[in-house]
This record gives sequence, C-alpha cells and structure tokens, in this order.
Amino acid sequence: MELIVYESPQDVSSGVADRIAGLIGGSRGPFSLGLAGGSTPEAMYRELRNCDAPWERVTSWLSDERWVPHDHERSNGRMASETLTSHVASDLIRPEFSPTMSPEESASAYERALRDDLGGRAPELILLGLGEDGHTASLFPGSPALSERERLYAANVIPATDEPRLTATYPLLWAARRLMVLVYGKGKAEAVRDSFQGKTPAGLIGQGDAEVEWHVDAAASALLS
Ligand code: 6PG
Repeated sequence: MELIVYESPQDVSSGVADRIAGLIGGSRGPFSLGLAGGSTPEAMYRELRNCDAPWERVTSWLSDERWVPHDHERSNGRMASETLTSHVASDLIRPEFSPTMSPEESASAYERALRDDLGGRAPELILLGLGEDGHTASLFPGSPALSERERLYAANVIPATDEPRLTATYPLLWAARRLMVLVYGKGKAEAVRDSFQGKTPAGLIGQGDAEVEWHVDAAASALLS
C-alpha cells in the first residue's frame, strides 16, 4: 500500500491525473479503467481529459452507480461522461437503467458486460472515493454487498436510507491490478484514519492482489499518526 500526501485538493487532482495518464501510456494493449463517482474526482477528470494518453485502448466503466436514469443529475455515469469520457476516445460502459428493470438485473447484466470486456484479464486500474462513513464505491457499512464473494458487481442499498445502488464488489476490487483512492478535505480525516486501521469498508480493499494507492491531501491525512 502506498500513501501519497499532497498539499491541496488541486494538487491531488493534478498528481492523480498525471499518474493515470502515465499508467495508461506505459501499458500495452487494452486498459480497463474503473471510474469513481461522487464529487471528488470531477476536477481530476477535467485535468485527465487534457492529458496525452492512448485513450483508444481504454475501456472505462463505473466503480458504482446510483439507481437513477442516465441523464439524472445524480448519475455517476453522466458525471464521468461530462467531465472525462465524452472528451477522449475511451468507451464508457454504463449499467442499464429502466423502471421495468430491477437493480439486481442491471448489476448482473453489467457484470456480464465487464467480464466480456475483460476477457479474463484483471482490470488495470479502478479509481475509488471515500465517504465520511468509510464507504467506498457503494460498499456502505452494514450493507449486504459487503459479504458478496462471488459476483463482481452487485445491487446494494444504503442502509440508512434504503437507497438502491449498484457497486463493484470486493472480488472485483481485489482482482484489480491497481486501486487508487482519491480523498481530500478535513471532513474525510476520520474516515481515512479509520480506514487505515481496517475499520471501514474502504479499509478492506487491500486484502486482495491489487496494488493500493491512497492519494490524499494534507487535511484528509491530518489524523494519520
Ligand atoms: C458515489 C460514490 C461514492 C463516493 C463517496 C465520496 O456514488 O457517491 O461513488 O463512493 O466516492 O461517497 O463522495 P464525494 O467524492 O462526493 O465526497
């Protein structure tokens, strides 16, 4: 596990964008890129889209998604498309959404699409964020998908609100070549500390084969001893 601490959120965005472009450029063949949702990665995606990289070899997908229409303002896929993938030559695979479809059906179909794209390869890079409760992707504390050990993608819920989500599971995260967690802001400092102590869902991402990198600003790393 590697911890990189930056002075400011802007430095996190620039540093991570450069690192991702370098990883893609230094790779050979197809590159599977899992994109984090939420607000943290938006500025980084806007920098990454201007980086020189062989985007035509990259297939992007979503580490998690809200159960909303594709054009909904809360859609992670909409955010990823607007800030990054519509500006580069990378395909973005998004989970289906339909009022006549269940989250479980969508997650199963999405897993099939990811498996087809990977063709047995491990995802080269999965980007993740961190919630103040220590969740990552949509693996929330106390949620059912935390115990999933077979499927690579699953429907889940936020226990506090019963809001449905779709999420990469630990088997998919653990199988990745590399995981990058992007965090900034003092509001995340306790979640970072607790994660480094293995006390949160995000704190368990290092239990597989993936190389894990935490890219954190000074404020979010303030409680690390
Ligand atoms: C989502 C996410 C989620 C996010 C964290 C942090 O759908 O919200 O994928 O895991 O990464 O909640 O969110 P912020 O970056 O907005 O703080």
